[in-house]
Amino acid sequence: MAPELDILTAGLTGHRLRALWPLDADCHFLNHGSYGATPYFVLQAQNTWRMQMERQPVQFMCTDLPLALRGAARHLATFLETEHNRLAFAENASAGINAILRSVHWRRGDEIVIANHAYQAVRNTVDFLTEQFGIGVRLATIAFPVLATEDIAHSYCDVITSKTRIAIVDHVFSPLAVITPLEAIIQHCRNLGVCMLVDGAHGPGMLALNLDSLGVDWYVGNCHKWLCAPKGCAFIHKGRNTATEVHPAVISNFYRTGYTQEFDWQGTRDYSAWLSVSASIEFLQTFGVQRYQKFLADQASEAAHMLCQHWQVELPAPPLAFAAMVTLLWPRPEPGTLENAKRLRAWLWATHRIEVPIIVINGKLWLRISAQIYNQMSDYEALAQALLPD
Ligand SMILES: Cc1ncc(COP(=O)(O)O)c(C=O)c1O
Repeated sequence: MAPELDILTAGLTGHRLRALWPLDADCHFLNHGSYGATPYFVLQAQNTWRMQMERQPVQFMCTDLPLALRGAARHLATFLETEHNRLAFAENASAGINAILRSVHWRRGDEIVIANHAYQAVRNTVDFLTEQFGIGVRLATIAFPVLATEDIAHSYCDVITSKTRIAIVDHVFSPLAVITPLEAIIQHCRNLGVCMLVDGAHGPGMLALNLDSLGVDWYVGNCHKWLCAPKGCAFIHKGRNTATEVHPAVISNFYRTGYTQEFDWQGTRDYSAWLSVSASIEFLQTFGVQRYQKFLADQASEAAHMLCQHWQVELPAPPLAFAAMVTLLWPRPEPGTLENAKRLRAWLWATHRIEVPIIVINGKLWLRISAQIYNQMSDYEALAQALLPD
């Protein structure tokens, strides 16, 4: 074990672990969810890969890289309970979802299903396809606040029909922080022969995943969020019975030579983030993966309950609908505009050194707290105090 990782096995959490990250020490960083945060241990591993590349770039790119990438894919496959040849690396969830959606041979009149609270970048990709190919979009309308998580599944199933070519389902909604119960939707898609693409940008690391038994056509996950990999590390998982051939958004030398080979080479670039996924898995394993997931969910829940009490607001979904993030109503009377969301985020940072995303949902302001092992209750207490109603 690397010496700096010893601290992870000592039962410590909170600010005493923050020294493992380059994060500013004098702030309350409550937004692991947006871009993740990468610990030194993983950044050092990434730097080692970069140095190996620069010692002999030709040897590295032509000989070492293909083997090393499959080695990293094997580690990731074990972590996600699948086989490495179902996994292709992507730069981020956006690139993975683009690769899939832009590889489909769309026919005019095909339909695609996406939720009203899907991530905007993914919605933009769908809009691009509608403009290019004349496909139709059907919206799964998720009511928020969520009364019961089954309502989310019903909202998808209500609009997924035999005319649906692909249903895009968010595993964890970015603005709502709510987890979608996937099983009923998977069954519905299977019954109708509809292809299901799960946007799992927040899944890996936050939730226990067994991708082979999940059995969806495509699962796209980010490793740079809850797996703490370097930025630019994501994957596509291809289901056992998936027929559609996908190609990376960047077509390069290995076009038509096979799924993993095409994705493993997307032109000359820095592949070190993908190679460092093994280090990020080791980092989590040192803490204990189940312990990590439970700690994040417990801490997010404790913080959310404390904030709800303090601000006299309600949790906007059943407690078990959340894991490492919780979205809460903004407790002050500012109107729900994008300008206010931007201005108040900047004010919280400038005045209170609190980083937390502020979101507009259904015309109101909300904020989304994240929990991470470098956080402790005093971070959330600082937020509680900063936003006490006037
Ligand atoms: C649900 C969801 N989908 C897609 C994305 C896009 O991820 P990336 O910026 O890594 O492409 C995000 C980012 O937060 C997200 O939350």
